Amino acid sequence: MEELTLKSKIIVCKKNELAKEEQQLVDTAIRQTDSSYAPHSHFCVGAALLLENGTIVEGCNQENAVFPAGICAERSAIFSAGAQYPNEPVVAIAVAARSPEGKLTEDPVSPCGVCRQVLVETETRFQHPVKILLYGQKHIFVIEGVSKLLPLTFKEF
Ligand code: THU
Repeated sequence: MEELTLKSKIIVCKKNELAKEEQQLVDTAIRQTDSSYAPHSHFCVGAALLLENGTIVEGCNQENAVFPAGICAERSAIFSAGAQYPNEPVVAIAVAARSPEGKLTEDPVSPCGVCRQVLVETETRFQHPVKILLYGQKHIFVIEGVSKLLPLTFKEF
């Protein structure tokens, strides 16, 4: 018998320690929280994608009374990029959220399992890692690629 230990490296930093382009991406995700439609959870999430050509694509969570009809901020941005720029690799994503009280979260919010799976396929599709920037007031988590967030990823054989 053998034991496998899976490790994920996460860089913890402040916004001003990020490259200018990444700070801008985080600011866009923060701004997108204001466009969120979250009448049910009141948890407003914003996402911003950086494409290889420098374009920023924005998204935010969209809820619905028919619960599964809604979508997370991350997938809203990724699917929007897929529709508008189908051939442009996604190189980074920033995510930020406001609590129901309207304050930006102290701790970084990390993507749900479904969004991680969609990010995995985005990486596979473009053969390019997607850098993940998760904003919190206390600190930002930087993760070099979604495989670090979703080990033992499902792949079709
Ligand atoms: N949500 C996101 O948009 N992204 C995440 O990473 C986690 C959760 C949304 C879904 C729902 O609209 C609300 O946050 C509460 O779960």
